[in-house]
Amino acid sequence: MEYVQLGKTDLMVSRICFGCWQLSPAFWGDVAIDPWQDAVRAALDVGVNFIDTADAYGEGLAESELGQLLAADRLRDRFIVATKFYWRFTNGERFPDTTYGHIIDACEASLRRLKTDRIDLYQIHAFDPLTRPDDVAAALLELKRQGKIRWIGVSNLNPEQMRMYAKNFDVSCLQPPYSALNRAVEAEELPYCLSERIGVIVYSPLFRGLLTGKYKRDHVFTDSRARAPQFSGEKFHRVLDALDTLRPVAETYGLDLAQLAIRWVLTHPAVTSAIVGVKERRHIEGIVPAVGTPLSGDDWHRVARVLADAAR
Ligand SMILES: NC(=O)c1ccc[n+]([C@@H]2O[C@H](COP(=O)([O-])OP(=O)(O)OC[C@H]3O[C@@H](n4cnc5c(N)ncnc54)[C@H](OP(=O)(O)O)[C@@H]3O)[C@@H](O)[C@H]2O)c1
Repeated sequence: MEYVQLGKTDLMVSRICFGCWQLSPAFWGDVAIDPWQDAVRAALDVGVNFIDTADAYGEGLAESELGQLLAADRLRDRFIVATKFYWRFTNGERFPDTTYGHIIDACEASLRRLKTDRIDLYQIHAFDPLTRPDDVAAALLELKRQGKIRWIGVSNLNPEQMRMYAKNFDVSCLQPPYSALNRAVEAEELPYCLSERIGVIVYSPLFRGLLTGKYKRDHVFTDSRARAPQFSGEKFHRVLDALDTLRPVAETYGLDLAQLAIRWVLTHPAVTSAIVGVKERRHIEGIVPAVGTPLSGDDWHRVARVLADAAR
């Protein structure tokens, strides 16, 4: 495993981060807890020291399961724990809320569920158009002063939004979507983070599993992916065909397609770590060989071009 400094923080994070969104039944169905716990333990064995969750994942379920496991196995100090706030759940509905009071309450609730006294990286999950930056900053700086959070990150923000927050506090890290099938952040967000030395931890690097090439052409998704256009019909088949043509590229590096997709995001100089969504041990163990010598420029562009053509 390789470890790198997250932006300007004192956190040395593994280049693979364990993603906990999969404990969100509304999106992923019911994921079995025993294999998931086994995967968290396996992550440590393969050198993964970085784990990403959110209060919204399963409306607290992901944080609670993680907290119970870390406490029972005394693993808290072996992980750099990142979580997020933003959504307030009320009577079956959810609303963005980045007011002072909500941020303080949300942090206390996350600490309770995670059974810890500090969050290593506390992230704003998305941009709330009603956000008052002074309010957000006052809450986050107060939590930092109390030692309840160590570093502040953001997710799904553009450079203008990050610049606005950066006037009030250090934005240490951005969590954007990024993969060879979704390169939108290459234009502005990644250059901004590179020039400002902001860490970048990318989500959906496997495009929610699609880039693994493991699904058969007649695969029927039964979770939230069933509603996404890329996961059925002609679009799905075109990507699978493109992935078949990329298998030899993966093989020249001794990788499978999932590992190639992760090596591809890690080759971008702005990217600190790839957050991989995990349900079971083989997901996390299987992805670790992705960390290693970057792809050649030619291969990096070849992968991007083949997938862009398929997604057109
Ligand atoms: N900030 C945000 O707004 C945001 C949004 C989304 C995600 N995230 C974070 O990013 C993490 C990752 O994103 P993601 O879950 O969307 O997508 P992802 O990592 O691109 O894909 C996860 C899926 O890939 C498959 N997979 C994982 N490892 C594998 C391996 N080694 N071999 C074969 N298949 C493998 C599994 O699919 P199957 O289930 O089909 O087996 C898994 O459910 C999340 O868990 C969460 O922590 C953040």
